[in-house]
Amino acid sequence: MDFKIQLGAEFPNFFCDTTHGQFNFHDYLDDQELPAWTIFFSHPKDFTPVCTTELGTCVEWAQAFMNKGVKMIGLSCDSVDEHLAWSQDVLAAKGFEGDNFNFPLIADPKREIASSLGMLDPNERDAAGLPMPARGLFLIGPDKRNKCTILYPATTGRNFYEVLRIIDSVFLSSDGVVTTPANWQDGDRLCVHHQVAHEVAQERYAGMEIIPVPSGYEYVRFVDYPMMPEQMDPGAYQQPS
Ligand code: BEZ
Repeated sequence: MDFKIQLGAEFPNFFCDTTHGQFNFHDYLDDQELPAWTIFFSHPKDFTPVCTTELGTCVEWAQAFMNKGVKMIGLSCDSVDEHLAWSQDVLAAKGFEGDNFNFPLIADPKREIASSLGMLDPNERDAAGLPMPARGLFLIGPDKRNKCTILYPATTGRNFYEVLRIIDSVFLSSDGVVTTPANWQDGDRLCVHHQVAHEVAQERYAGMEIIPVPSGYEYVRFVDYPMMPEQMDPGAYQQPS
């Protein structure tokens, strides 16, 4: 399978038939009443257990994503009616009262969208032998460009803590000065981008430490997080344009 939406590529516009009505994808990305960033994720199939746990987690966490400036939209290869019925199962399985499903689910019964975006998993087939979407997830910026792709097999539910971590990392590193090291968690020290001069990093961040390495090159550098007073305000880095 090839993912047709490369990193940095602009998403195509396509018609969406969803549990929240019909609209063009770009109109959803541009909706001024919603956060500017978007998580777009695919599910293999309605009424399946792993997908149900994932969607329940998304419903539970949608506000946390909104607080970070990110809205959500899902896709599964069934009809709107099936999505609506499945949504009730998702809420009940999570123990939620009411029927407030807080983001749209795109219906893609003919797999046209999943196929055109390269999201089908040829190894996972439904009872009729049709390929199902993989567990794909894109983080889409306000410029409609793909900032991150993750791809899991149907048998592995996604780690949404990791999705939150990716969002924090993408937002922080958008200043072009810092990057996030392996297993970085919010609050940990940051790496300095290898193309950034010591002085530039020191102007922006406190506590720069250069780790001595046998090559003698001074490229393994860490800074404290955060340094500048304005960076103490979470809103200062959460929605780069
Ligand atoms: C699931 O969501 O449990 C699932 C869906 C498709 C294939 C395998 C598992």
